[in-house]
Amino acid sequence: MNRIAVVPGSFDPVTLGHLDVIERAAGIFDEVHVLVVHNPGKTALLPVAQRVALLEKSIINAHLPKNIRVTSWSVGLLVDYCTDVGASVLVKGVRSQVDVAYETPMAIVNRNLAGVETVFLLPDPAHAHVSSSLVRQVAGLGGDVRPYVPQAVADFLEKP
Ligand code: PNS
Repeated sequence: MNRIAVVPGSFDPVTLGHLDVIERAAGIFDEVHVLVVHNPGKTALLPVAQRVALLEKSIINAHLPKNIRVTSWSVGLLVDYCTDVGASVLVKGVRSQVDVAYETPMAIVNRNLAGVETVFLLPDPAHAHVSSSLVRQVAGLGGDVRPYVPQAVADFLEKP
């Protein structure tokens, strides 16, 4: 049986914490779909296509396993994507109890909607403080984001 997991997120932009979770998921499941989801509730820094491109480049540069693919989703429920591709599991990285509290209702709703289970993975504590929103803020104010993001993202954000 081919176990497909979806790692969804805004990835605006992808961080080292995200890459860590994606790599762990790829070690557990047969196939991992990293899904860039357009979240209308958030003001985005990067267009979805750019986020996909930066994810693809970062995954290749980090030599992550070959069972990872990157795609995007902007219409309908996240679980509709899962059903379409035959994925039975969503993977979320949880850095803290705050993340668990935020993710738990979504996990329950997604299970109720389509029987899709959510697996929480603990990222390396080295990345516990890293978030895309922090990166956007530091980058926007001209600070150094290299400790928090893959090189491709840092290079992109530093472009004049
Ligand atoms: O990286 P983010 O912004 O924390 O990712 C949040 C995301 C995209 C995973 C979340 O907003 C989401 O699951 N959106 C899909 C919309 C959906 O299906 N909602 C109903 C069930 S919770």
